[in-house]
Amino acid sequence: MRIRTIQKSDDTISDTNTDLFCFGHLENSDTHGKLNDADSHFLGSVKKAMDLEKFTGESNKSVLIYGDNSIKRINIFGLGKQEKLNQDKLRVLGAKISTNANNMKCKNISIDAESFKLDKSDNLQVFCEGLVLGSYEFLDYKSKVEKSNTLKTINIHGNIDLMAMKTGQILGDSVAFSRDLGNHPPNILTPTLLAEKAKEITSNAENFTYKCYDVSEFEAMGFGSFYGVARGASTPAKFFIAEYNGGGNEAPFALVGKGLTFDSGGISLKPGARMDEMKFDMCGSATVMGVLMAVAELQPKINIVFAIGSTENMPDGDAQRPGDIVTAYNGKTIEILNTDAEGRLVLADALSYVVDKYNPSGMMDFATLTGAVVVALGDKCSGVMGNDDKLMSEVKSSADNSTEKVWELPLWKEYSKDIESKIADIKNLGKAPMAGTIAAGVFLKEFVGDIPWVHMDIAATAWGPTEPAYQPKNGATGVGVRLVYDLLKNRSK
Ligand code: BES
Ligand code: MG
Ligand code: ZN
Repeated sequence: MRIRTIQKSDDTISDTNTDLFCFGHLENSDTHGKLNDADSHFLGSVKKAMDLEKFTGESNKSVLIYGDNSIKRINIFGLGKQEKLNQDKLRVLGAKISTNANNMKCKNISIDAESFKLDKSDNLQVFCEGLVLGSYEFLDYKSKVEKSNTLKTINIHGNIDLMAMKTGQILGDSVAFSRDLGNHPPNILTPTLLAEKAKEITSNAENFTYKCYDVSEFEAMGFGSFYGVARGASTPAKFFIAEYNGGGNEAPFALVGKGLTFDSGGISLKPGARMDEMKFDMCGSATVMGVLMAVAELQPKINIVFAIGSTENMPDGDAQRPGDIVTAYNGKTIEILNTDAEGRLVLADALSYVVDKYNPSGMMDFATLTGAVVVALGDKCSGVMGNDDKLMSEVKSSADNSTEKVWELPLWKEYSKDIESKIADIKNLGKAPMAGTIAAGVFLKEFVGDIPWVHMDIAATAWGPTEPAYQPKNGATGVGVRLVYDLLKNRSK
């Protein structure tokens, strides 16, 4: 069950019917507003419960009170000290509230806006993101669904910004969609299905055009680098592009995703342990798809190009060999030294194609690109690299706004030496095992020309993290969707 409705309610305490009424309470503050109404409604038992539990509003503390047939429960959540209350705390609270509500098998809940400070639009948005994400579950392949979430409807009581509420819910749903794509198994979520999902979103929304190219067209298009990766797979590779026109005639901002629906490593085969996790090697494309969904629904005033290169990387009689040399869309020749360094080969063509056809005002790519970034930064942040300080600072500020942390690694020209090949222009390996994430970064840099560009390596953050509360209990996280939407919003008119 996914939350269906988050809506505004003007009901007073005595008019309300709900499984659970939630209030916030700042540390050592007085009770006021609807919490006082609730206390009177229940003849003083709310304040009595707070006193009995010595509840002062510390963060991570809460009091649960049982009510009557119309308001079945009241839950008061500590918000901590006023000066320490920030947006991520509210997002976490939203997530905890919907998780708790589901644990208590609630079908609908009420939230008092004022006591959670949701009269401020930004607070309301992130709180709604948390509500949606806290009840994320992926049960598509459970034949008997016994323990599905129950929470369907959330009523937010008070004077609130309806657009901020809607934005929060849509961003939450878009992250959830991105997670779903990651979690589907690789025999189901093929490049064909991924392309169909993008087609469906764009054809049901305004201001989009969509085009999909099949692997059979790659060689003629000049996609020698992508084709080399795709040739071992028997399920057809796809390259698809959605153009969104919300900003008139200006140059678009471009988002490019790595969509490896399964990465076995190819002829440079990966070891067996945890190879199943390589179904998540399309999470870069899932980030782009999540943003696509948010843009389709929210229609920001900016032009955007969404491009995804999707294939499996498989060993086969016709698969690419270590030693092969391929030619990318921009004419550069690449010596393949390890067929498992395939993401950069797919992105090489996708990036240079987007640069050539759209001359974007800026470009980001998203990829589960290197095991090395897991070692370097762990799962607390994504690695970012780029060629433009201004765009990089936009990315960092959107990372702060969304609490999707990033850390910059350098792409100094000294590192580019590491990918020089003896017989081709470049090779798809650096000085392994040194600086593997940067080697991939300087490789991609060969394909973006002068376009301001930031690459985000999400190999550690795309699946695995389970903290804080709005992260999933397992599987794909939908990383980057909220960060990118914030960046696009700041760039829009
Ligand atoms: N998809 C992997 C990167 C990866 C590894 C993501 C582990 C998440 C967890 C990528 O295609 C890959 O195999 N990269 C190689 C590159 C190497 C051969 C230079 C890697 O990181 O080992
Ligand atoms: Mg690989
Ligand atoms: Zn890969």
